[in-house]
Amino acid sequence: MDSRILELVEQYRSLYGGAEPEIIVRAPGRVNLIGEHTDYNDGFVFPCAIERDILMVAGRRTDRQIRAYALNFHQSTTFPLDNPPHIPQGRERWSNYLRAMTSVFGNEGIPLIGLNCVAWGDVPTGAGLSSSAAMLIAAGYLLSAGTETEIAPVLRAVLAQKAEREFVGVNVGIMDMYISVLGKKDHALLIDTRSLTYEAVPLPTAGVSIVIADTNKKRGLVDSEYNTRRLECEQAVMLLQARLPEITALRDVTLEQFERYADSLPATVRHRARHVISENERVLESVQALKSGNIERFGELMDASHESLRSDYEVSCDELDAMVAAAHSVEGVFGSRMTGAGFGGCTVSLVADTAVETFLQSVSAKYTEATGLKPVIYVTTAAQGAERLR
Ligand code: GLA
Repeated sequence: MDSRILELVEQYRSLYGGAEPEIIVRAPGRVNLIGEHTDYNDGFVFPCAIERDILMVAGRRTDRQIRAYALNFHQSTTFPLDNPPHIPQGRERWSNYLRAMTSVFGNEGIPLIGLNCVAWGDVPTGAGLSSSAAMLIAAGYLLSAGTETEIAPVLRAVLAQKAEREFVGVNVGIMDMYISVLGKKDHALLIDTRSLTYEAVPLPTAGVSIVIADTNKKRGLVDSEYNTRRLECEQAVMLLQARLPEITALRDVTLEQFERYADSLPATVRHRARHVISENERVLESVQALKSGNIERFGELMDASHESLRSDYEVSCDELDAMVAAAHSVEGVFGSRMTGAGFGGCTVSLVADTAVETFLQSVSAKYTEATGLKPVIYVTTAAQGAERLR
């Protein structure tokens, strides 16, 4: 067994009187290769799960309480299964995700049982790699394992999204939770966020690496700006409906239609809509490029996505731009872009295996020179989605 799991089991034993955990689950973080800020516009995204995850082990209790210990924070919390209170601030805030899933499952009538658990994760927090989605999904697997309840994978993602919206208050899309559940080793998923169906597309397993570079810029404005972008997209749909009554989301608008009616939109809304509409087309084209082995084209579309997020959607920042510029200076980088919500967090680059060493050194040095910050760079492959291990 994975040494990380053995350590968690050991912790569990020492915390809960030598008992053996009955349940072990894991859920991964994610990186989105292309298709940003499209998932709340009924559009397309193309993420993969990463080799970093949240692990949880648990055993059943006889009362209706959850007792949880976070190994990362050396912090424990106890709450009731029925109407668990939200923790607005302080050291137990990490447990809100577990509380949120408990609350949503309870409201949905999913049977619950008291649990003792220990959680640990190596998905960096606040970096845009969806540690919160991983935590929600892992919590969902843990809770349903307690009562041996079967839940369809897509429903798991939908309930986790509901939990984030209701408990955390950010009106997020479905991408992060969906990929954390359904991720497939060595594949990225082309997800249609309207029908909630996907196609698993193989990623090259030799010759090319996925490189994630964390700017270490903490994402200050992200929640309020995120909700504002959503509203601007809704406004674009409302205004475009005057000319295109059949549309219900920006997903329904082609670039050609957009160009025809763009002048009827106020400048900011026009720019936001242009990003979303062009990004959807880029996702579909990039998947075709990948399927035909054209990594160069895939990389170009990643670059174009970054530019559109920077200038039209205005969710990049100096640090993300500096990281992308540093990546572009390395020979053997096919493409590079910000990934996730923006305003800090990470970039993702597709890099020829032979260039990874140079990337690690040269991008770090150039980025630090430009920003004064030290980046953290991870090389990853596409990992399997969440699972119950015991
Ligand atoms: C965050 C949200 C996702 C998605 C991205 C932007 O990660 O949680 O739903 O909207 O931002 O693509």
